[in-house]
Formats: sequence, C-alpha cells, structure tokens
Amino acid sequence: MDSAAIAALYDQHLMRTYRPLSVAFARGQGCRLWDLQGREYLDFVAGIAVMATGHSHPRIVTALQQQAAELVHTSNLYYNREQARLAERLTALSFADRCFFCNSGTEANEAAIKLARRWAGLQDPPRGPGIIAALSAFHGRTLGSLSATAQEKYQKPFQPLLPGFGYVPYNDLEALAAALTPEICAVILEPVQGEGGVNVPDEGYLAGVRQLCDQRGVLLILDEIQTGLGRTGKWFAYQHHGIETDSMTLAKALGSGLPIGACLAREAAAVFQPGDHAATFGGNHLCSAAALETLQVIAEEGLVERAAERGGFLAGLLRQRLGAHTAFREVRGQGLLLAVVLDPEQITGPQVQEAALREGLIVNAIGPDRVRLAPPLIVSEEECRQAVEILDKVVAE
Ligand SMILES: Cc1ncc(COP(=O)(O)O)c(C=O)c1O
Repeated sequence: MDSAAIAALYDQHLMRTYRPLSVAFARGQGCRLWDLQGREYLDFVAGIAVMATGHSHPRIVTALQQQAAELVHTSNLYYNREQARLAERLTALSFADRCFFCNSGTEANEAAIKLARRWAGLQDPPRGPGIIAALSAFHGRTLGSLSATAQEKYQKPFQPLLPGFGYVPYNDLEALAAALTPEICAVILEPVQGEGGVNVPDEGYLAGVRQLCDQRGVLLILDEIQTGLGRTGKWFAYQHHGIETDSMTLAKALGSGLPIGACLAREAAAVFQPGDHAATFGGNHLCSAAALETLQVIAEEGLVERAAERGGFLAGLLRQRLGAHTAFREVRGQGLLLAVVLDPEQITGPQVQEAALREGLIVNAIGPDRVRLAPPLIVSEEECRQAVEILDKVVAE
C-alpha cells in the first residue's frame, strides 16, 4: 500500500482530527526515519518530543520484547512489579513522593486537576476549587485539561468547559498575584510553553510563582509533559529554577513511544484515596517496563547532559547560519526544545515544514511564524549540521 492509498482510506474512514503531511513512515532508527518508498529523513520532531532515546533503541526494543513475551497487562486490581519500580525511580529522580500512572499527557493533567480539587476539599477551612492557568498554555484536549488550555481556538467550540478556571498572562507575576483569591486551590503551568510557541519564562518567574503559591497556600502543578525527562538539559525543567513543585505531570518521552503518563506529587498533596481515580491500562506491565528502560537509557547514556550541550550547539549553529537571512528573527528555547522564529511575510512555519520535508528533514510548524525542533536527545553534532544545512537552504529559497 502506498501513501496515496493510505490517504484515500483516511479520506473515507478517519475522523478529520488531523491534517497529516503526505508521508507515511515504515521504519525508524536513531534520529532517522524511512518512508514506505525507502526514502530517508532526519527526524527533528521525534514524535513531538516523545522519542528521546531515538527510534528503535536496541535496549528499549529488547525490554519491550522481553516484557511482551512475559506479561503485558493484568490490572491495577493487583500489585505490579514494573509499576512499583517505575514509581520508585521517578520519585528518586524528582521532588515527588508518590505517582499515579495513566496513558497520556492530557490524562496526567486530568489526574493533577482532580488531585488539586481533592486536596482543596481536605484543607481546614476547605479552599475553593479554582485553578489558574496561563494564556497560550497547552495542557491537553480532554475537557479538564482543555479548561486549562487557555487558547480560544481549542476551547471555543467546546464551551462550556469546567467552571472555576482563570487565566493570566504567562511570565506575569503581578497578574498571578491578583488572581490568587481564596477560591483558587492550584496554579498549573508549563516551565517552558511548548505548543504555545516555545516560550521560555524570564529568570525569576518560576521562583516567584513558587513563592506566591507558598504565601497563598496554593498548590503548584508543573506540566512537564514536554519539558521533562531531560529535554531542556535537566531531568525536569523546574530544576533550572532552584525550586520544587507540589505536583508534576509527565508523558511523551516517558515510554519511548508507548502510551504512559504520570501525575507525581509530594506526600502532603498526594491525597487520592481508593476509588478517587483510576485508569484500566495505567502503568501496565508493558508500558511501565518501557518507561523503566527509558529512564535507564537516559541516565546511562548521559542524555540529560547531552540535551544541554547539544541544544546549545544546535541553537548556536541555527543563529549562525540562518541569521544571514532577512526572514530570520530568532532562535528560542532551552536544551533540545527549540523554535526558529521567522518573518511570516517572507516565509511561514508551515511553508518551512513542507519544504524541509521535501528535502528530507522533519520539523514541526507551531504557528504562522515558527517551527519547533525537538530531535531525539541522542542527536549527533553531524545530524545537527545536516538539519541546519537543510533549513538554511529552505529559508534561502
Ligand atoms: C505541555 C503539554 N501538556 C499536555 C499535552 C497533552 O499530551 P497528550 O497529547 O499526550 O494528551 C501536551 C501535548 O503536546 C503538552 O505538550
């Protein structure tokens, strides 16, 4: 079946939730993908910051094969050795004491929202159920997370959303201070806004948020679904800011492509009781084994440090090569979560995405004026050079 035949089936049988580019991949290895015709591509999207360990990492493949042959799924009705080990490892790596496992980013945020509301009801006196999120945030598409995803284009067709959500500009401590009334129990933020444009906050912003949350007795939830697990050059992006959080959500890179999400919390905030929340597949044997091996590979291959070093290298190269073009505006981001911002009057993000694909490079348009780069953390300097070469050519043309 070629990609035209696949496109025809999409047209007929799939809901129109996506607008796929006209390519279908058959195989991946490291930072490379091959399409059905055998054409090679350099993957600087990594399944949207998912394939941190690269495609088909031999250790992940082996872990999956072994676990699949042994046991895929039982249920959270029983103890699960892989899930227990994964929780032990994640809490050792982070501020957290306890984990809840689910299947995606949006579900992790649903858990964090419910956890905050449960916590609010247990305070003496109880706090209100309100939650403050930032404008341009992206926390997911299910109704709770969507209520925190403060972007009109995503929210408007689905009103009414959950009551109790308030929104403030990102990077604005005064606005947050004014929004933290006694009706509010939590603040949810991305340490770097990903889908919203790769917006890195000013120095001091997250420390200021932490201080405000402490002063007002409000929980801080950090959505590290995109930034976590090494992507920004620390295990978790909050570690750049000398703070800890009360709750944190993870997904994307956690399972090296297997669907697993997590909501982590410190003991005082981890108030769920049996029956409060659940997920049939959450943290099943196969997904937990994938996540455990992912964490091992990230640690043993030094991928956190690699992301910091290689991210600096790639950003420098992009500025050096693209800086000569009148369409170039800036490179922004942290570690290996970067965006190239261009003058959309001259070339748009989607145009760059399409032209780069034709040249064998996969990048991701996140708005009319920018493309996001989030390659596997194993990316080599040579692969960075090749990618920049292609982008340079695309922008020049
Ligand atoms: C910061 C952030 N939160 C939540 C999500 C939603 O994750 P999922 O698509 O796995 O539901 C995303 C996905 O892009 C994200 O970037």
